[in-house]
Amino acid sequence: MKAIVHTQYGPPEVAHLKEVATPVPVKNEVLIKIHASTVNRTDCGFRSAEYFISRFFSGLFRPNQQILGCEFSGIIEAIGPEVKTFEVGDAVFGLDDAKFGGHAEYKVIAENRAIATIPEGVSFQQAAAISEGAHYAWVDIRAAKIKKGQNILVNGATGAIGSAAVQLIKYLGANVTAVCDTKNVSLVKSLGADVVIDYKKEDFTQLQDKFDVVFDAVGKSSFGKCKPLLKKNGIYISTEFGKMAQNPFLAIITPMLGGKKVLFPIPATTKSDIEFLKMLVANRHYKPVIDRSYPLDDVVNAYRYVETGQKTGNVIIEVVKGI
Ligand SMILES: NC(=O)c1ccc[n+]([C@@H]2O[C@H](COP(=O)([O-])OP(=O)(O)OC[C@H]3O[C@@H](n4cnc5c(N)ncnc54)[C@H](OP(=O)(O)O)[C@@H]3O)[C@@H](O)[C@H]2O)c1
Repeated sequence: MKAIVHTQYGPPEVAHLKEVATPVPVKNEVLIKIHASTVNRTDCGFRSAEYFISRFFSGLFRPNQQILGCEFSGIIEAIGPEVKTFEVGDAVFGLDDAKFGGHAEYKVIAENRAIATIPEGVSFQQAAAISEGAHYAWVDIRAAKIKKGQNILVNGATGAIGSAAVQLIKYLGANVTAVCDTKNVSLVKSLGADVVIDYKKEDFTQLQDKFDVVFDAVGKSSFGKCKPLLKKNGIYISTEFGKMAQNPFLAIITPMLGGKKVLFPIPATTKSDIEFLKMLVANRHYKPVIDRSYPLDDVVNAYRYVETGQKTGNVIIEVVKGI
């Protein structure tokens, strides 16, 4: 089968098309013929090993998983002898940030991992983009215990995480003030944001409003700068480590001090979260935002684009062309 392989860490160009053996499903594994995947920030992080600490998970000197693509959608083509919950022909989507493998024509995954059937009426492109951003958003939203009636500020509302976060927070019934670029104001309003701040015209840290949670989905702010925006026991969450890795450190210290605090939850990928996202998509509470698509053999350009930090929502990889 054709796959995008990287045998060393580095820039987008380390990823290249190669013919490799098609995996065979054993025990409780399913074999998926991949129709679509994405290039997302998780793939970029594992390919570049930009943060050295990530090598403790992905391989100290060279990558353990040489085919990236943590999100995928496709059709089950074969099943192992112990599979009970899926059948050949099922259209599925999911997230595999342990073994990856979406940037290939086929991948295997155990049936009890984070996969689910694609809700009716959802395309393979949309299905491929359901999981990564929304998963990170949901991990943070759950940690902050966001609930109905609260005031939440989402910075970076046009990233994969931010665009999902706005929709998931609105699903919970909280009020969203979202920060984005001029060109995306109408998109972010369409996602359900109650108030939209254009960061090209206004510095959100100067707002007079007070928030229960400031969720920086692009990691461009800091706890220090956002503290005045928080209510008495308000919470600051960022998707980035912050300057000198301050966010994980503050997440240990600030809860012990009382009052305003930083959270930095460790994400765990579970099947129940994927089933939850499936329910939201099926009931039209959440729709992944899609920016553009690239064919599998143009993955290097997809990486280059994602690493500009300017994608809007998700970037699709069409493994089956023209789906
Ligand atoms: N290391 C990992 O494994 C990992 C995994 C997942 C996510 N993350 C981190 O999580 C963050 C979000 O990732 P993502 O995929 O959701 O999105 P992303 O690709 O980082 O975000 C792109 C979006 O952020 C907006 N943006 C850029 N600068 C901004 C600013 N100063 N204020 C407000 N919006 C701004 C951009 O809009 P404009 O171009 O219009 O400004 C663009 O739509 C990233 O920092 C990423 O590194 C890391």
